[in-house]
Amino acid sequence: MQSLQDKASEWSGVAAADAFAIDDGNIFESLGGTPQPFVDLSTNFYTRSAIAPLFLDQRLSALIRTDLDFLLTSTRLIPGSNRVYEDEEEWFREIFSGSKKEDAIQNQYEFLIQRMGGPPLFSERRGHPALIGRHRPFLVTHRAAERWLHHMQQALDTTESIDADSKVKMMNFFRHTAYFLVAGNEMTRKQSQSVACKHATSKPAE
Ligand code: HEM
Repeated sequence: MQSLQDKASEWSGVAAADAFAIDDGNIFESLGGTPQPFVDLSTNFYTRSAIAPLFLDQRLSALIRTDLDFLLTSTRLIPGSNRVYEDEEEWFREIFSGSKKEDAIQNQYEFLIQRMGGPPLFSERRGHPALIGRHRPFLVTHRAAERWLHHMQQALDTTESIDADSKVKMMNFFRHTAYFLVAGNEMTRKQSQSVACKHATSKPAE
């Protein structure tokens, strides 16, 4: 039987060696040894890109009146500025609807700091990462993985505090992990289906 790692490599198109090239050096240290690049990335991933507020600020100072409609329209005009919580795809936004944005941002950057060689902030606050188990409540499909990766690619592209080489390594890790989670999600759903069937089966009438 194909392992979850093998499925992740096949579906993501990223070999395990490339996915775990993040461990060849210490990305946390090479980015300055501070949480800031990871806070930037996760904020960028979950919320609007840094370009949008900057644009809004410039517009705001030029505006004598505060016209909310105008501001909202202007934000939408910026291509690719919408991230996870403002995604135009409702089915994808829905997956995150039970989580507070601020918590989601903190959960992600603490995990990334830890995984990229920094202090174990995530485990200290949340316990073992156990990513498959933590994603169990959500429908992590191939389509959801591609949408997640789309946002992450956009977020990485517009995070200036991360260098190009680290971006490539991190994206390979993200692609592989996303499909590892898809494979894990399929597996846990199949398992719970078979367990549910066994408990729900009624005894045939005699
Ligand atoms: C949390 C969805 C991929 C790491 C979450 C949450 C959702 C979600 C809905 C809850 C938000 C929160 O409260 O923190 C997805 C989907 C993915 C995906 C649809 C598509 C494949 C990934 C990947 C990683 C990752 C690739 C790691 C590289 C995490 C972490 C948390 C999280 C660390 C926080 C868990 C916690 O603190 O309990 N994800 N995720 N996710 N995700 Fe994902």
